[in-house]
Amino acid sequence: MIDLRSDTFTLPSKDMMETIMAAELGDDVWEEDPTVKKLEALAADKLGKEAGLLVSSGTQGNLVAEMTHLNRGDGVVLEVESHINLYEVGGLAQICGAYPFLVKGQNGLMDPKDVEAIFTRAYNVHYVEPKLLCLENTHNRGGGKVIPQENIDSLAKIAHDNGASVHIDGARVFNAAVASGIPASRIVKNTDSVQICLSKGLGCPIGSVIVGSKEFIHKARKNRKVVGGGMRQAGIIAAPGIYALNNMIDRLEEDHKHAKIIEKAFLEIPGLKVKDVDSNIIIADLTGTKWTPERVTEAFKKKGILVSKIPGIQPMVRLVTYFGITREDVEKVAEVIPEIFN
Ligand SMILES: Cc1ncc(COP(=O)(O)O)c(C=O)c1O
Repeated sequence: MIDLRSDTFTLPSKDMMETIMAAELGDDVWEEDPTVKKLEALAADKLGKEAGLLVSSGTQGNLVAEMTHLNRGDGVVLEVESHINLYEVGGLAQICGAYPFLVKGQNGLMDPKDVEAIFTRAYNVHYVEPKLLCLENTHNRGGGKVIPQENIDSLAKIAHDNGASVHIDGARVFNAAVASGIPASRIVKNTDSVQICLSKGLGCPIGSVIVGSKEFIHKARKNRKVVGGGMRQAGIIAAPGIYALNNMIDRLEEDHKHAKIIEKAFLEIPGLKVKDVDSNIIIADLTGTKWTPERVTEAFKKKGILVSKIPGIQPMVRLVTYFGITREDVEKVAEVIPEIFN
């Protein structure tokens, strides 16, 4: 099977696995695992921040960052189709007790005017006050969209000018960096915290890192403990992370080229809309066509290809390229697309 359901299906390479056996370990709750410390420092350095904290997943990383920025009853401004809003079990509400201000974007891109309108409402005793802005780059539901730098910078300025903090869900920020040619540290320069996933395009089996100021990470460490994220010999997770940050970023370019091959095949199908492919995610929008996500995923499956369905008012299918998906694989996918959509 060619599995394009998500880049989370990536498997670690032999070289990456070997780093686990060689890792020097200690108890990381006691801050005595040297490999974890090395990963956290490396991630912070790559993102231009003071400190980092290893967490178990992207969801945990976003949640711990939110807990660290927010008090109960605070407002959070975020895009309606963001991962934090749609796919993190409402942790913002159920754990942080925060109120979401949802902004409708264009494939994840929020209009600064909409964000400004929320942040600049005059004080009123009835209103929730927004204290955090959450961004996402690349934007998953936006079809792996690379959010333009001017947009990130202007949104961050609006939040900061109005006394709020900025968190960026950078699960795929290195895809954004490779696709745009803008260093990851520049992309996140005007944000206060960042979550990066090691277990997607970077090919690790587990883990994410959050980065920010020393003070932020000091506070976040306690919040991570609250949600059961204090891990002991976590160097076995950190070692592949170090390998990934040193060896797996530049190769993301290959995944993006592969995604373009699939995009091209979809674009040749009359009546089918495809979200612009900027990185490693391809979303075909089936709205107004005779195809349903169920039919399309079944048809792909019969050809030995797994893709994910996104049902709903706007029915879509999603394909994601990653380490382990070869040029031959994507060529096969491109070849069967006209057979499926005939
Ligand atoms: C944009 C984005 N943020 C966060 C996450 C959550 O990561 P995890 O699955 O490690 O919890 C994902 C996972 O797909 C994602 O796509």
